[in-house]
Amino acid sequence: MNILILGGGAREHALAWAIRQNPKCDRLIVAPGNAGIGDLAECAALDLLDGDAVARFADDNAVDLVVIGPEAPLAAGVSDRLREAGLRVFGPSRAAALLETSKTFTKEVCDATGAPTAGWAHFDDAAAAFAHVRARGAPIVVKADGLAAGKGVTVARTLAEAEAALDALFATPGAEVVIEEFMTGEEASFFVLCDGTDALPIGSAQDHKRAFDGDEGPNTGGMGAYSPAPVLTPAIEAQVMARIVRPTLAEMARRGTPYQGVLYVGLMIADGQARLVEYNARFGDPECQVLMLRLGAQALDLIEAAASGRLAGMRVNWADDHALCVVMATRGYPGEHANGSSVRGTGALPADPASVLFHAATRREGGQIIAAGGRVLSACGRGETLAEARARAYALVAAIDWPEGFCRSDIGWRAL
Ligand code: AMP
Ligand code: GLY
Repeated sequence: MNILILGGGAREHALAWAIRQNPKCDRLIVAPGNAGIGDLAECAALDLLDGDAVARFADDNAVDLVVIGPEAPLAAGVSDRLREAGLRVFGPSRAAALLETSKTFTKEVCDATGAPTAGWAHFDDAAAAFAHVRARGAPIVVKADGLAAGKGVTVARTLAEAEAALDALFATPGAEVVIEEFMTGEEASFFVLCDGTDALPIGSAQDHKRAFDGDEGPNTGGMGAYSPAPVLTPAIEAQVMARIVRPTLAEMARRGTPYQGVLYVGLMIADGQARLVEYNARFGDPECQVLMLRLGAQALDLIEAAASGRLAGMRVNWADDHALCVVMATRGYPGEHANGSSVRGTGALPADPASVLFHAATRREGGQIIAAGGRVLSACGRGETLAEARARAYALVAAIDWPEGFCRSDIGWRAL
C-alpha cells in the first residue's frame, strides 16, 4: 500500500513511525514532512490546503490511502476533494469537521443528543454578551467562534477578565462568541476511530498546556502528554461512549454528514461523571505521539479500517504499558522566538522502540539539524510503568544538546 500523510509536525512523525513498521506499507510519503520524517519516509513539498494539488499528487504517485494530520486541510475541504477523486482518505469531510471548527455546531449537537457539556449561549451582539456575563458572574468561559475563531478561549476568573475577553473578541467586525458555564474537575482526552457508523476507542491521554513547570506560564499547543490517563477508567470510558460519542456519531449520520477519521474527545471529569469540553477532528499533538508509541504497527490496520468503513470487525491489541512525551521548544515559545539554532545530539540516540525522538519544526542543513519553529522535538518513552516511560523520555532530553531550547521537567506529575 502506498500511503501519503499530510503534515509536518511530531504528530505526523509519530504516525509515519507507526505506519512504516507495518509490512503492508510500501511507499510512504509525507508532505511536507521534516528532518526526522525524512529518515523514514519520502518528503514532498505540497500545498496542504490545495485539494486539487493534493489529489493530483496522490494520483501521480499511485497513493492508496491519504492520512490527514492537521485540521487546516480538513477545514479547507481537502478530504472532500480527495474522496471526489476516488481516493481513500482518513479524515472527516469539511461538514463533519465542524465538530472542531464550530463551537456552536458542537453545542447544538450536544443539545440534540443530550450529551453532557457545559451550559452555553451564543452571541453576535456585544451588548447582549456583556449583559449575559454580568448576570452570570465569574468564573465563566468566553470562546471565539465563527469569524473570530483562532483568538481562543478565556477561562475568566473575574468579571473584569471576562469583559476584557469580550472587548477583544468584539473588536473584530462580525465576531461570534460562545459563553460557557465554568466546569471544574480533571481534564483528559479520549481518542476514538470512526468509520461513519462504527467507533473504536484507541486510548486516552492527558496533556500539559502551560509552558512552564507547575502549570505556570502561557497556554501552548501542548508541552507534553502521557497515556493512558488514569482518570479515564473503564467505567468512565463506557459512559463517554454511551452518552457522548455514539450519540454524536448517530446525530452526524442523521444529518447526512457521517464522521470518519479520529474523534478527539476533550473531557472534564468530576464525581464519576464526564462532560464534553470540546471535540477535535484530528489527533492531538503531543497526544498522538504517546498513542502511536503504544499502538505501533497496528495503527495502520486501524486507520485503514476506519477509512474503509470496516471498523466493526477491528479490535486493538493492548499491551499493559504507558507512554510519555516531553516537548522541547525554542526559548520564547509560545511567544516570539528565534528560528535557526542548531540542535545537536539527535544522531547519537539509540534505535529503541521504547525511546523515540520525534521531530516537529526541524530541517536539515548540511549535516546539521536546524530548529525551524516553536515546538521542535518530542522526546518519548514507553515502559511498563509511567515512571519508566518518563525516565526514558527524559533520558532522551538529556542527550540533546540545544541551549536555545527548553522543556518542562514535570511532565506526568499529576499521574505519578
Ligand atoms: P477548548 O479550546 O474549548 O478546548 O478550551 C481550551 C481549554 O479551556 C480547555 O482545555 C479547558 O482547560 C478550558 N475550558 C474550556 N471550556 C471550559 C469550561 N466550560 N469550563 C472550564 N474550563 C474550560
Ligand atoms: N494538544 C492539544 C491539541 O492538539 O489540540
